[in-house]
Amino acid sequence: MADRSFNNRVTALLGTDYPIIQGGMVYNSGAKLAAAVANAGGLGLIGAGSMRPDLFCDQIRKARTLTDRPFGVNIPLLFSHSAECVEIALAEGVKIFFTSAGSPKKVAAPLKDAGCTLVHVVASPVLARKCQDAGCDAVVCEGFEAGGHNGREEITTMVLVPECVEAVDIPVIAAGGIATGAQMVAALALGAEGVQIGSRFAVSTESSGHAGFKQAVVEADAGATQLVLKSHVPVRLMKNEFRDRIMEMERSGMRTEDLVAVLGEGRARAGMLEGDLEEGELEIGQVSGLINDIRPVGELMTRLLDEYQATMDRLSGN
Ligand SMILES: Cc1cc2nc3c(=O)[nH]c(=O)nc-3n(C[C@H](O)[C@H](O)[C@H](O)COP(=O)(O)O)c2cc1C
Repeated sequence: MADRSFNNRVTALLGTDYPIIQGGMVYNSGAKLAAAVANAGGLGLIGAGSMRPDLFCDQIRKARTLTDRPFGVNIPLLFSHSAECVEIALAEGVKIFFTSAGSPKKVAAPLKDAGCTLVHVVASPVLARKCQDAGCDAVVCEGFEAGGHNGREEITTMVLVPECVEAVDIPVIAAGGIATGAQMVAALALGAEGVQIGSRFAVSTESSGHAGFKQAVVEADAGATQLVLKSHVPVRLMKNEFRDRIMEMERSGMRTEDLVAVLGEGRARAGMLEGDLEEGELEIGQVSGLINDIRPVGELMTRLLDEYQATMDRLSGN
């Protein structure tokens, strides 16, 4: 791995070599992916969002056998098992919690009392400020480009990151549309002190996503994704029959309950874990147009850091 110094508030907070975090991702981010990122010097997160509590517990234990580097968990707070998952992770000795989709207020006290690091994902500067007030140690500011569930405000990473840097004193971690070293340079230039990467790591050898899903992302062109369900649960999806149908239902003014019923039929699992490319939900970011291969995490991290250095050299005229 490239020998570069990245000592800043994010590496100090997380105990990593690089300020690079692999975002929690339903059906993609189990122990194997989190440990691979940790072993490569970043922070890997086990995503609780698609796991029942017993599986989540097994994955934390499995990650311990695969790495002795720090790793953390991502727990979407609106998910039905979230309280149980927080308890399990605490009991298993996890020290780094990334939360999303909900208010970090309800978990801040128990996590801080247990000496844990708490980072919450937001899509607006107002929410970043609320995280700081709630006692979060850092915020992930996730722009409109990002894969998965998304803010309604449609603020892009390019605008959101400097707005959040201005709004808070805690470190800002940029997310959404980052898959290359040049994009990482851009995020840090905007004032972020770290990057959270989702889509690029979903399309890695160690991701638990279905091989067909990963290949579909590799073949996707720029513009293959779109934010749907904006009035209900905004989510960025890759184009397929399911997405077209959801967009049509939305256009025809379908009620939330009916839309939720269609979405609740295990579509995300079918698409990303089981490889149903037409009738499944394929969550991926705009950056899919820049993802052209499925490679091991170690190789992706080396490439990212090499590109980062090449970009820095280019900008400084070397
Ligand atoms: C397949 C997929 C599933 C995701 N699931 C979650 C999740 O369970 N919890 C969460 O906080 N974010 C989730 N995200 C968002 C990522 O953690 C990350 O912030 C985002 O992917 C960054 O943008 P990028 O995709 O452009 O790299 C997901 C993203 C993807 C692509």
